[in-house]
Amino acid sequence: MKNLREIIAEAEKKKVAIGHFNVSELAAFRAVTKAARDLGVPVIIGTSEGERDFIDIHDAVAMVRDLREKHGQPVFLNADHTHSIEKVKEAVEAGYDAILFDGAALPFEENIQKTREVVTYVKKMAPQILVEAEIGNIGSGSTIRKELPHGAAINPEDLTTPEEAVRFVKGTEIDLLAPAVGNIHGMFANAPEPALDNQRIKLIREALRQAQGKPVPLVLHGASGNTDEELKTAITAGISIIHISTEIRVAWRKGVEKSLEEKPDEVTPYKLLSGAENKIYEIVLARLKLFSGR
Ligand code: G3H
Ligand code: ZN
Repeated sequence: MKNLREIIAEAEKKKVAIGHFNVSELAAFRAVTKAARDLGVPVIIGTSEGERDFIDIHDAVAMVRDLREKHGQPVFLNADHTHSIEKVKEAVEAGYDAILFDGAALPFEENIQKTREVVTYVKKMAPQILVEAEIGNIGSGSTIRKELPHGAAINPEDLTTPEEAVRFVKGTEIDLLAPAVGNIHGMFANAPEPALDNQRIKLIREALRQAQGKPVPLVLHGASGNTDEELKTAITAGISIIHISTEIRVAWRKGVEKSLEEKPDEVTPYKLLSGAENKIYEIVLARLKLFSGR
């Protein structure tokens, strides 16, 4: 089976994107992997530090390996939003396929320096693991928002520039870059998301391709709440991986609430959680169809 690097390169060639969905328990894991299996597309499971503490880092690896090695399904595991070298080490030792070192809250030069340390460590221990890094403030937390995250970069002068992207990639030698291009973590309950700057995505991608002599895949975080049209345009502009988390969390909660309402006396967990699983499945299937152009 192709590894994650090859899967991403293939997606770039086909001008499609790979879906990355965050999970912290079994119902969401089952829903995401089933949707990808039914559609016949690769998928990335993301677990942030909190999510992998809850699902258990080793259980997450075991479940992904089981699908991949015993059932031939292209499922990959990303240690999402990892803030310390200790947590990077845990993910490397556990056998993750990719790690996002998130130093976005640090001053730019410090982010370069810390990310560089992570890349050096990971490439020494397990060169097959992809390292991603994030630049720019897109807020943190996959939550329902009433207002923009404090200090979020949505004005043109605060978004990632092609020059910054090149300087960051040259200084760190990361495999994947998550820039700030108008995206924010979380979503508004009843309002549209800020607009994505697709022209900027194109310029960053082109600048990196020229500077590195090869494409550097771009990752779009915070895609919950963005419309199909917005995400389709972002893929055409050059995004290769799209992160969705809040939509999964909302679907989980709505599914559980519906089950509890419909079956007030039910105590069997799988009969209650299947409502959440079904809702997540529908959302992931629709998003994967869009990302893969199927
Ligand atoms: O890494 C996770 C994502 O960027 C999720 O963002 O909650 O806005 O979908 P979201
Ligand atoms: Zn993210």
